[in-house]
Amino acid sequence: NENETWKLLLPICVNAVMSVCAYGLTVRLIPRIKPMFVKANLYGVDMSKRSSGKVPEAIGVVTGCVFLVTMFIFIPVPFTDCIFSNVNFPHDKFVEFLAALLSICCMLLLGFADDVLDLRWRHKLLLPTVASLPLLMVYYVNFNSTIIIVPKPLRSWLGFSLDLWIFYYVYMGMLAVFCTNAINILAGINGLEVGQSLVIATSILVFNVVELFGSQWKAHQFSIYFMLPYITTSLALFKFNWYPSQVFVGDTFCYLSGMTFAVVGIIGHFSKTTLLFFIPQIINFLYSVPQLFHLVPCPRHRLPKYNEKMDKLEPSVTVFHKSELNVLELYFTLLGRLLMYIFKTFKLIKWQEDKGGIVTCNNLTLINFILINAGPLKEPTLTSILLIIQIVSSMMAFVIRYPLASIFYDV
Ligand code: UD1
Ligand code: MG
Repeated sequence: NENETWKLLLPICVNAVMSVCAYGLTVRLIPRIKPMFVKANLYGVDMSKRSSGKVPEAIGVVTGCVFLVTMFIFIPVPFTDCIFSNVNFPHDKFVEFLAALLSICCMLLLGFADDVLDLRWRHKLLLPTVASLPLLMVYYVNFNSTIIIVPKPLRSWLGFSLDLWIFYYVYMGMLAVFCTNAINILAGINGLEVGQSLVIATSILVFNVVELFGSQWKAHQFSIYFMLPYITTSLALFKFNWYPSQVFVGDTFCYLSGMTFAVVGIIGHFSKTTLLFFIPQIINFLYSVPQLFHLVPCPRHRLPKYNEKMDKLEPSVTVFHKSELNVLELYFTLLGRLLMYIFKTFKLIKWQEDKGGIVTCNNLTLINFILINAGPLKEPTLTSILLIIQIVSSMMAFVIRYPLASIFYDV
């Protein structure tokens, strides 16, 4: 009815207006804050330019702060009715909201710490886990539903539903770790980190809007509250991070984005759909596995190699002696060899071996994979290709989510 529709849309409209203001603020703020970051030694060098000065790094903290402040000011809006009438205040929904903000805020802080301190790999896995704890706690208190519906083809073995018990919490924690890091390792060329996050966020938003008039409207309304200001603040960042980058987003931004997606997915009960929007990140992660787990040597930076003469990017490589694979434990060596054999057989990598046993192999990222197949490319062209892949994957995700889902579930 009309009253209900109004209740549904009014907070979203208020949120939208505030998000537009947040965009205006961020666009003005970034150029002013840039020199302060350089002064504080928070800068990086653009490795894919002929000459490059100090590019302020970790600007994601600026957009993150504007995003959070917008959300803080927005807190009372969805609860106005209840505040004035003072009856039936939905404390559970309120706590959920605050915990979501706490987790994102925590991730912003830890991400910034990573940018300043340049943490090791194992910490990168620990930080999102820690930041997701408040959220998991609230999930426990509010829902504690760890039961999943089994897909139709498996029902004859597992039954209709399955209680995952503590493993459901492990899954949610891992979701946060995956979302944050997956964005961070598909990075290194101008505009890619923000670009992919924007595509993912927009996909989530579209999904929420489609579902807004369904039975789970509250969860999707909740997600829209987060997505709108996230998208506008990131759009402002995109403006400065697109080729040629005036600012770098830093790990702060990657963590903030991943955590925001994980939070809405968990609280909104659509974590599987959220993961569907990460198809290129999942492919990039699987392709990276040999390097991430050090089955093959992994240099500090795997971003493409800049060819100054052509002003184009080429695949970057890692060079090592074949015997280096033997230094590692036998199990790892065999696994590494097997994976590399599979990659070689399917021509997924460029692997050259000389007589002395020196191996030259491209760094295992989706970015390099495209360069191997498409030849040297200009930086903005490469970013555009990757973003188009991201958009096409999102469209595929919708096909999987809607028509194909009926094969696996009763929808
Ligand atoms: C991750 C990747 C690393 C990649 C790096 C690039 C893994 C395991 N790690 O590391 O391979 O090289 O991101 O972001 O896959 N930079 C540019 N142009 C850009 C963006 C970044 O030259 O458009 C360079 C700058 O020197 C910048 C640095 O990358 O200072 C930032 O790297 P950082 O985010 O600290 O690297 P990681 O996230 O640890
Ligand atoms: Mg990074």
